[in-house]
Amino acid sequence: MNLTGAISKRSLDHMTRGSLIRAMFERGRLLKEQVGAANVHDYSLGNPFNEPPPALVQAAQRMWADPRPGMHRYMSNVGFDDVREQIAASLNARHGLTHPLNKNHVIMSCGAAGALNVVLKGVLDPGDEVLVPRPYFVEYDFYVDNHNGVINPVETDANFLPDLNKLEAAIGPRTRVILIDSPNNPTGVIYPESFLRSLDELITRAEEKFGHYIYLLSDEPYAGLAYDGVTVPSVLKNVRHSIVGTSHSKDLGLAGERIGYIAFSPRIDDVQQLFNACALHTRTLGFINAPAVMQRVVAEFQGEVAGLADYEARRNLLYQELRGMGYQLVKPAGAFYMFPESPIPDDGIFISEALKRNLLAVPGYAFAGPGYFRLSFAERTLEDIARSLPVFRELATQYGLRGWV
Ligand SMILES: Cc1ncc(COP(=O)(O)O)c(C=O)c1O
Repeated sequence: MNLTGAISKRSLDHMTRGSLIRAMFERGRLLKEQVGAANVHDYSLGNPFNEPPPALVQAAQRMWADPRPGMHRYMSNVGFDDVREQIAASLNARHGLTHPLNKNHVIMSCGAAGALNVVLKGVLDPGDEVLVPRPYFVEYDFYVDNHNGVINPVETDANFLPDLNKLEAAIGPRTRVILIDSPNNPTGVIYPESFLRSLDELITRAEEKFGHYIYLLSDEPYAGLAYDGVTVPSVLKNVRHSIVGTSHSKDLGLAGERIGYIAFSPRIDDVQQLFNACALHTRTLGFINAPAVMQRVVAEFQGEVAGLADYEARRNLLYQELRGMGYQLVKPAGAFYMFPESPIPDDGIFISEALKRNLLAVPGYAFAGPGYFRLSFAERTLEDIARSLPVFRELATQYGLRGWV
């Protein structure tokens, strides 16, 4: 008997749309088998290269060897009280928050992805809209769809900054969330404080018009990875109705440990109702609570970043060289991505040409940003980057880019 319906139509749709980066990854794996890893220039994946700080590993070992009684049991869904208190205190101190957070504004999560899903589940009714500046991290489509929301991409300017007029025009009666990610994946852009202040005013106007909360949901796994001594402006400080979803996947190199948190602005009048809903959804979505040992470990390393200087050196080398060859790109201010313009309008064709030379990148259309391509330098050492430069140069020559090298 030929049966159909092994998986839902929604899963089929997600698998089709989510297959591109996966396909690149598989392609890279095969290529590495065929020609050797050193001959494949793999700029496809955003896997953090940095190892956690040695002191963090030691702290984790200590905790496993001598846990507090009951440490590995179920706990409150929101996480340990003292850990949440420590994170709130760190946020207050690092951002100089005059409306300080306490433990009742922090929920521990399974990474940033877990945090975003919990929040979206807490605030979206079916058909509610989430505005997101384009280009954006592909997984947002799935997170929003998980909770029956509708994603609505909004154009950005030539520097990938959201256009406030377009953002305001896009807000309608069903808009519940504006979702941002700064430093940004895929562009590396950091949104300035003045932008956040304008966004706060814009949200207040829209809330008065439509009569319900509109949240700025800030996805911040890259907040610690800012270059040139820059500090990423605080959303909690500048936007009254803001919620942060973040993790230590990238700044502490703990992506596999699934540890992060949600932080709610105390200036949301109904913050306790929102907190309680998200606490519930930590359970209803099957997370139950964030990993116990990792909660205690990261509490002691708030504000620390592993490998920042390495990432910055890679950013400097790759940016300088690509500009010199004539590629058009915005200098990434943070994260470990670059989003250069494709030398030809069809980024898919450009990526295929790069692939022929064993250079792997992701076409911009996978981020709703056609005409560009994304390079992740997370796993590329300076030597790897240097080895790949002749390939970028060949492509530049093939497409007639005019550089100075
Ligand atoms: C923009 C963005 N948000 C969220 C995530 C997911 O982060 P986590 O692994 O902490 O869940 C990623 C991972 O690459 C990301 O790039």
